Amino acid sequence: MLLEIKNLNAGYGDVQVLRDISMQIPAGQVIALVGANGAGKSTLLKTICGLLPPTSGSIFFEEEEITHLSSQEIVARGIIQVPEGRRLFPRMTVEENLLMGAFRQQKKGGALLEKVYAIFPRLKERRRQYAGSMSGGEQQMCAFGRGLMASPKLIFIDEMSLGLAPLIVDDLIDVVKEINQQGTSVLLVEQDVQLALEHSEYGYVIATGRVMMSGPSAELMGNQEIKEVFLGL
Ligand SMILES: Nc1ncnc2c1ncn2[C@@H]1O[C@H](COP(=O)(O)OP(=O)(O)OP(=O)(O)O)[C@@H](O)[C@H]1O
Ligand SMILES: [Mg+2]
Repeated sequence: MLLEIKNLNAGYGDVQVLRDISMQIPAGQVIALVGANGAGKSTLLKTICGLLPPTSGSIFFEEEEITHLSSQEIVARGIIQVPEGRRLFPRMTVEENLLMGAFRQQKKGGALLEKVYAIFPRLKERRRQYAGSMSGGEQQMCAFGRGLMASPKLIFIDEMSLGLAPLIVDDLIDVVKEINQQGTSVLLVEQDVQLALEHSEYGYVIATGRVMMSGPSAELMGNQEIKEVFLGL
């Protein structure tokens, strides 16, 4: 098991958000984490990445406990988040933003850039442009590319599809598949339930901070409750 979460609880101040979350991400797979607005998806990512301390429970990565490691130590283990809303530095160029992702391995920066530019040729064309002046789709590519610059073993992609045209989302999904084939495990975190389940092997559905359902994505897509609640069928 690459990542294993056991009975995790976390929240903000007195407000508990995550309730007894248990979850497993095997190496080499694309896993979906879906749920409505406010379900706790981003909070779960923050907790795994060491940005929010859990109140109880534990997190293991490659069989070692990482529950109380700092965010820097967790990044160093190979867990990377492409955050919701992209969080680029708007007054820095595309290339400067990408290089921020490789700050831990500056010597390899050039080679990593070439790798990312091979995946996203558009970013190479735009490398001297301010990140803030790019289109939404290009900014998402840049945030994704910055994540890849850290050579992740496991990458969390939070709301990748939000606000983007279907054709751009298709291109990004192709990249998800490509990096997964190259050995990176992926957690697709989406409000777009259909998109995430269509392109993953296994899925977790969370609501009000709890895992409501989990199973092979194809089975979840056929589930009547999921069809009604999330797919509008
Ligand atoms: N920094 C914070 N301080 C206090 N409450 C917060 C904070 N961040 C999130 N919350 C609350 O925690 C709950 C879960 O939010 P979270 O962002 O994890 O949901 P989400 O599933 O990612 O939703 P979305 O699909 O809208 O991104 C919400 O009720 C939210 O208001
Ligand atoms: Mg969120």
